Amino acid sequence: MKPLKPVIVVLLLAAMGASISAQAADAKRGRVYYRMVCSVCHMEKLDGPISPSAKTKAEWSSYLQADKHAKGKDTVKYYFSKEYRASIKARNQAAAKYAELPDAELMADVKMFLSAGAKDSDTPTSCD
Ligand code: HEC
Repeated sequence: MKPLKPVIVVLLLAAMGASISAQAADAKRGRVYYRMVCSVCHMEKLDGPISPSAKTKAEWSSYLQADKHAKGKDTVKYYFSKEYRASIKARNQAAAKYAELPDAELMADVKMFLSAGAKDSDTPTSCD
């Protein structure tokens, strides 16, 4: 049995690490994705980017929950999807870098970034 022990320890540590990273959203990763994917398109198609401080934390939360993007023309989840990332990764570094990240994790990261810079946060963040 003795030689097995280190293997078990390594497996346990790996499992712990995986559960920790699944729980804690990564606002930095969210910022990179929001700026390089979401904002780049908003700058192209709208008059400018949409700042995190455009909405309160609760408004961002219900916006993402409602999942109606561009006045309901499509869904916001689509822009977090692996499918969308795959479609732009040849020309978008953030989409390429996070190509394999589960959709829900990426969305949680962006949500954390948006609420950290929301209108009613301690650090309202504008993109201008
Ligand atoms: C391919 C281009 C494109 C991408 C990528 C994109 N958006 Fe948009 N977004 C738009 C357009 C166009 C509108 C404005 C639609 C209108 O006003 O008719 C918009 C509007 C919005 C709005 C304003 C409210 C609304 O839905 O009209 C929010 C908030 C928003 N986008 C969030 C996001 C987030 C978050 C992402 C990234 C996960 C994202 N968008 C990615 C094109 C894009």
